[in-house]
Order: sequence, then structure tokens, then C-alpha cells
Amino acid sequence: MPDYTRSLGFAFLEGTKLSRQDLFREREEISPAAYFKSYPEAPRLKLPRPDLPQADLFEALLHRRSERIYRPAALSLKELVLLLWATQGVTARAGRYLLRTAPSAGALYPVETYLAIHRVEGLPSGLYHLEIREWALEELAQGDFGAELKEAALGQSFCETAAVVFVWSGVPRRTMSKYGSRGIRYLFMDVAHICQNLLLSAEALGLAACPIGAFFDEEMNALFGLDGTEETVIYLATVGRPGR
Ligand SMILES: Cc1cc2nc3c(=O)[nH]c(=O)nc-3n(C[C@H](O)[C@H](O)[C@H](O)COP(=O)(O)O)c2cc1C
Repeated sequence: MPDYTRSLGFAFLEGTKLSRQDLFREREEISPAAYFKSYPEAPRLKLPRPDLPQADLFEALLHRRSERIYRPAALSLKELVLLLWATQGVTARAGRYLLRTAPSAGALYPVETYLAIHRVEGLPSGLYHLEIREWALEELAQGDFGAELKEAALGQSFCETAAVVFVWSGVPRRTMSKYGSRGIRYLFMDVAHICQNLLLSAEALGLAACPIGAFFDEEMNALFGLDGTEETVIYLATVGRPGR
């Protein structure tokens, strides 16, 4: 039986353990990537600052479940803005750092946010990128990409029926230039914080959501025009109005 200790996963864990001696060793040299991504040519929709509702965090924790059945009803733009803000809203500035609702190792923010919008009031369906500094959505393509998303997510049909699908990519150089290969661990921790903020805020708004880790990486990258090397999709989550 193939052993865990001979797996690629184990090699990664072992190879990225930090010891006291490592503090005095020379680091892997990895050049950084730009801290922010934007699509200057894309049509932009400036997002309003959200009106934060009252909500009980512990109620949201108690009731959150992964929900995969959605009504074919639209989200309001207000709801979408609240969800986006919960995931990556800028809440403070520290020098050049734009600190967000979710923590990030070294405040390097290696995760980019994309949306596949199927049904949001006042927004054409299509693929979008969240521009952090401008707090705007950049339109990458118009149309309904539900069928393509579903196919790239191993046929999981709720990708098609959700009102919106959050798609997060990682830019490894942003964290690896500081932390070397251990930065890959932080990249996945970062995206998990972001996703949990989405899941809890969806629950607080009475919406249904489900995280998705099962997808064909290169198919998902191709859909969003990512090269899979400098930037690659790492996690998804669907959101819609609960269907039961
Ligand atoms: C990293 C991760 C990946 C997941 N991937 C999928 C997925 O691809 N498809 C799916 O239907 N659910 C997925 N889920 C949801 C889990 O199935 C779900 O969290 C689990 O069954 C526990 O249920 P709960 O979230 O309702 O508490 C994923 C959850 C996590 C944390």
C-alpha cells in the first residue's frame, strides 16, 4: 500500500517545516510579484461602501452549513457588496499596506478575487475581477459562464444554479518572495480565512453558500485567463438564495 510518507504531500510538509536553524540559513531567492492586480482596459463598476447590518456572529456560526440547492432568484447589489467587503474589504491602512477584513501572512495578500455573476440585480452576468485599491469590479467578459464553471468543477451542478460564484486565485510570488516555499502554506491559509468570512456573512444575510475545492485547475485557469504558473485558481465558493 502506498505510504503517506512517500507522497508528494508529505514531501511538501517536510520540506516546508521551519526550524530554529532555518532562521540562520540562506533563503530561497524568489523575486516578488506586484502586490495589486488590475485590468486597466476593463470596464469598471465602482462599488459603494457597504452599509453594515447588525448580525449575531455566534448565530451565524451555529447555523452555517454548506448549502448546494438554490432558488433561481437574484442577489441584490447591496448583498454582493457586503459579501465582497466581508472577504476583502479594506479596513485600515498601514503605510503601503491596505489591511483587510481577513488576515494575511506578512500583509502580502497573495489572493485575487474573481466572480462569475449569474444573477445579481443591476449587473450584467459575466466574469469580473475585484480591484482592491479602487474598490471596483472589472468586467472581464459578459455572458453566462455557468455551464463552463460546472464542467471545470467536475460537473458540480450547483456552480450553474448559484447566483454568484467566488473564484479565488493565488499569486505565489507575493508570499514566496518573503517566506520561500513555506509561503505556499500561508497562501492556502489566507484563502481559507477569506472563504470563511464569505460563508459566515452569507449565513448572516440569510443566503446559502458552499466552498469548492474540487475543480480541474487548468480548465478553471483558462476560463479566467490565468497562466496557472504566476497565478492559479485555488478555491471557489457558490452563493445563492436558499432553495429549501
Ligand atoms: C477545502 C474544502 C473543499 C470543499 N470542496 C467541496 C466541493 O468541491 N464540493 C462540495 O460540494 N463541497 C465541498 N466542500 C464542503 C464540504 O463538503 C463540507 O464543508 C462538509 O461536508 C461539512 O459540511 P458543512 O460545511 O455543512 O459543515 C469543501 C469544503 C472544504 C473546507
